Amino acid sequence: MGGCCVGAVGKSRSALKSGVKRLVARTGFDIVRSTDNRGGVDEFIPFEATMRAARSAGLSVGDYIDEVMNGTPGATRSTIEELAARGVFAAGPDTVLEIGPGSGRYLELTLKECAPGRYEIYETAQPWADHLVETFGVVARPVAGFSLAPTPDASVDLVLAHKVFNTLTFLGTSRYFLEMARVVRPGGRIVFDAMTETCLGPDTMRAWAAEGGTGHDSYPAALPRGTCVDLFASLGCELEGSFLAPMGVGTTEVLVFAKAT
Ligand SMILES: C[S@@+](CC[C@H](N)C(=O)[O-])C[C@H]1O[C@@H](n2cnc3c(N)ncnc32)[C@H](O)[C@@H]1O
Repeated sequence: MGGCCVGAVGKSRSALKSGVKRLVARTGFDIVRSTDNRGGVDEFIPFEATMRAARSAGLSVGDYIDEVMNGTPGATRSTIEELAARGVFAAGPDTVLEIGPGSGRYLELTLKECAPGRYEIYETAQPWADHLVETFGVVARPVAGFSLAPTPDASVDLVLAHKVFNTLTFLGTSRYFLEMARVVRPGGRIVFDAMTETCLGPDTMRAWAAEGGTGHDSYPAALPRGTCVDLFASLGCELEGSFLAPMGVGTTEVLVFAKAT
C-alpha cells in the first residue's frame, strides 16, 4: 500500500495500518497501480476496499484516510482552512486544476470553498479518477509524461497538488512544476506541498529512517525549498506564503505562489 495516502508509519499507527492491510487482503482487492507513473510511488490505495472501509467506519473517505489510515484527524480540513485564511479562494477561482487528487479528499473541500466553472484533474489511478468524475463532475485529463499539455497556457486560476511531489521523482516533479507555471493565468495561484528542509530537522530525519518506507524506499522524496522558490520566481510566480501540514511521522511544507499580473 505504500507511501501514498498511507504515508509513513508511526509506531502508534502500525496496528491500524496492519488492520488496513489485512482488510485489503480479505476483500481480495489489489492496490491500484497507476497507469503512467514512470518512477516514484506507482501505487495508490485501492478504490473499492477503501470506500467500503470508510462506509463501515461511518466516515467520509477523506475523514477515513485522515483519521484511520494516516492517524492525523482533521489534517485535510486544516490545510484547506489555512489556504482559505490566506485568501486563496477569495477571488472565486473559475478554473481549478489539480494534479494527483487521489481519493478527492482535498478536492471535495476545495469545492466547498469555491464553485469553479471547470475543475480539471490529472490522476493516474483510474478507478479514483472515474469516481471523482462521476461524483463531482470534474474533467479528467489524460496523464502523459508529467505534462499538462491538454490544458492551454495561462488558462487556470488555481493550480493545486497535495501530497504528490513527495511521491514523484525529481524529474517528474521538475516537469510538472514547469507545466504548472505555464497553465496558471496572470494573477492566478499555484499551491503545492513539498518535504523541504523546513520539515527535516535531525529528529524528524531519524524518525523517517526508523519508521518510514513501508515497501517504498523512494517515499518520501525531499525537495529544497530555495530551489522551488527560485524556479517559480524565474517563471513569474512569487512566493506569497507557506505553512506546515502533517505528513507521516513528520510534516510537509505547503507553498502558495501568485503569478504576476
Ligand atoms: C500520495 S497520493 C495523494 C493523493 C491526494 N492528493 C491526497 O493527498 O489524498 C499521490 C497521488 O498522485 C497520483 N499520481 C501518481 N503519479 C502521478 C502522475 N504522474 N500524474 C498525476 N498523478 C499522479 C497517485 O495516483 C495519487 O493519487
